[in-house]
Amino acid sequence: MIFRREKSPQERDALERLGRPTIGRHQPDSPADPSLPRFAVAATDDLGDAALGMLEQSPGRARLALADALSASQPVTSRDRFAGRQDVLGALIAAIEQQRAHVVLYGERGIGKTSLVHVFAETAREAHYLVLYGSCGVEARFDDMFRTFASEIPLLYHSGVSPTADEGEHNRSFADLLDPGHVDPRELADLFQKIVGTRVLLVLDEYDRVSDPAFRRNVAELIKNLSDRAARVQLVLTGVASNLDELIGFTPSIRRNIVGLAVGPMAEPELREILRRAEDATGLLFAPDARSLIIRMSGGSPYFARLLGNRAAGRALDEKRQTVGEADVIAGTEAVLAEWNAGLPRRVQVILQRAEVRAAWNVLIAASRASGTPDGWFGVHDVAAEAGSPDIKGITRTLDGLTGEIDLFDRESADGAPEPRYRFRTQGVAQLLGLSAALARAGR
Ligand SMILES: Nc1ncnc2c1ncn2[C@@H]1O[C@H](COP(=O)(O)OP(=O)(O)OP(=O)(O)O)[C@@H](O)[C@H]1O
Ligand SMILES: [Mg+2]
Repeated sequence: MIFRREKSPQERDALERLGRPTIGRHQPDSPADPSLPRFAVAATDDLGDAALGMLEQSPGRARLALADALSASQPVTSRDRFAGRQDVLGALIAAIEQQRAHVVLYGERGIGKTSLVHVFAETAREAHYLVLYGSCGVEARFDDMFRTFASEIPLLYHSGVSPTADEGEHNRSFADLLDPGHVDPRELADLFQKIVGTRVLLVLDEYDRVSDPAFRRNVAELIKNLSDRAARVQLVLTGVASNLDELIGFTPSIRRNIVGLAVGPMAEPELREILRRAEDATGLLFAPDARSLIIRMSGGSPYFARLLGNRAAGRALDEKRQTVGEADVIAGTEAVLAEWNAGLPRRVQVILQRAEVRAAWNVLIAASRASGTPDGWFGVHDVAAEAGSPDIKGITRTLDGLTGEIDLFDRESADGAPEPRYRFRTQGVAQLLGLSAALARAGR
């Protein structure tokens, strides 16, 4: 579980001391070997928004600005890098402000849930909401998470504490009023009911990763109790799921207190905006055909738009060109595929080359799309739907042929289940298949 929080004065001091550039002032005894790779820009430099023309003046900076503008490995945390999503952001604000509901944001992996929730948090803080962010891990425990949330709510917001309270009260938090042993959702709701002078939003990101059923039961119980008491605390849950039930389970008691919002694929103009913002930040230009190709291959995913845009632009920078062309996009995508393939276990790489596997390529691609569930398991009917084929028997035969000796899939037949379910055995295979299909679709 990661919590975003302010640093303590001690931590700030320590960081400042660390930041003092004693190493930078050190003069090397012998001249550095010019052939060794170096950093382009000092870590202490503030890049700001790179201006047009940076490319000629400082290619190193342009490269860093590119990494900054189109990094695919990190969520966007500020509005100046955030493209599109007006509709869902508007709906989220309305659900919180007008409906006073708890909200569940769900969508496929990498579609932009965490980025959306960060930008929403920034917007809510401007409106003086107290927004607390927690990222759930597999091991997340209800007690720990909500105790930490409570520790970030100053006791001055408690209806029983006067705003003119003495110094001692200023340093205390709601956590000080919690049972030191066990955090009970009903008691927590009672405590949160005492909040005055602000509204609190508790963001539970990556909620799909929570494996403890007690955590989920407690969250449902908390939502019910907070709603019944009209407390000034609202929860925002996000997670990988294709529908609301998949993420929160079927809990009729809290259904009317929850607004579910789907974070779907980004529309073409939104993906275009991602690339345009990168152009502004780096001074590079995407040629129209390069831009269209990236957008087509992205299939609505901001992750893919950034990844492919970044790799294509990197190739243009390598050759000191300002314009990113279609050939850069293709070469960049092929390089990503080669890297992903090299990252797979050797045995899996060999399996993917086998004739029987190549013959099953269409089913594999459909399976890769069907595997975007929170736990990666899918059924034959999911694959058939993705493949647009009614041939259930044929698809079952193909999937079964890829378990066992060719062990691309795990297969499981639960007691009483009408059909077996499958899962890719090796992480990364589904993503590799998805991107190679996108490249093939783009006409290469
Ligand atoms: N609105 C946006 N504008 C620009 N880039 C975005 C936007 N939304 C997401 N991205 C980019 O897409 C990638 C995935 O985003 P993010 O991590 O927010 O998705 P997620 O749905 O939380 O993923 P996961 O399912 O893995 O938790 C990141 O590289 C992020 O920078
Ligand atoms: Mg996320």
